[in-house]
Amino acid sequence: MVAFTLPANSRYKDQAGKVHKAPADARRVKTFRIYRFDPTNGEKPRIDTYEVDLDRCGPMVLDALFKIKNEVDPTLTFRRSCREGICGSCAMNIDGVNTLACTKSIADVKGEVRIFPLPHMPVVKDLVPDLTMFYAQYASVKPWLQTRTPAPPDRERLQSKEDQEKIDRPSACILCACCSTSCPSYWWNGDRYLGPAALLAAYRWIIDSRDEATGERLDALEDPFKLYRCHTIMNCTEACPKDLNPARAIAEIKKMLVERQH
Ligand code: SF4
Ligand code: SF4
Ligand code: FES
Repeated sequence: MVAFTLPANSRYKDQAGKVHKAPADARRVKTFRIYRFDPTNGEKPRIDTYEVDLDRCGPMVLDALFKIKNEVDPTLTFRRSCREGICGSCAMNIDGVNTLACTKSIADVKGEVRIFPLPHMPVVKDLVPDLTMFYAQYASVKPWLQTRTPAPPDRERLQSKEDQEKIDRPSACILCACCSTSCPSYWWNGDRYLGPAALLAAYRWIIDSRDEATGERLDALEDPFKLYRCHTIMNCTEACPKDLNPARAIAEIKKMLVERQH
């Protein structure tokens, strides 16, 4: 159903949160304003302010979050794992843009660094969004090889270099959710529209030359909500920190559905 307001537990109150000043001898101070929400204390979300001495901090936004958590406020909660742009865990909204905290340079942000969880998702705590539905949507496209014919007895199923290259880029998706949570159609219909990340995964398996369930995969997507809620607004492709193109993948799926009618 169309919802024109943020989830109730994602709205923050206007009054300022706590302010954590930089040490008195800090010379290169950067201000971070960070969304805070703790479901256990009954309070509304707030924005806390942290002044960080950049001379004693690594260059990336994730470095600053670690510094704050380790040295100033251990209650600050965020996801991260690889710190190399590989795992997708540290996706958040920084300076108004969905991106990865570990690959976002602090120096790229002019003025205060404003950090929020990925938009339009329920919030578990602070910068951690609830991605349960996002993962369920990914699982719903059956992101694995489906075959009917037996595999060759003496080797794996092979594909040509050209066929491998077709799936090379879509396979590079790290499921960070930057794209889906930047998509207005996903904001308003996230319960029924699959969103660009899941559709990119669907596309990756539809075009895999070894897969033998192409027809069923297309059948499953021929739905006014699951696929056709994409209105080619392109926010998704712009948001992808891995330079992937989910909007084009969605357009290709739509084209395949038209072509198979002829
Ligand atoms: S192109 Fe489609 S999926 Fe991408 S942001 Fe626009 S509506 Fe969403
Ligand atoms: S397509 Fe890009 S933005 Fe979307 S989930 Fe994959 S890596 Fe993240
Ligand atoms: S920590 Fe893995 S992508 Fe940022």
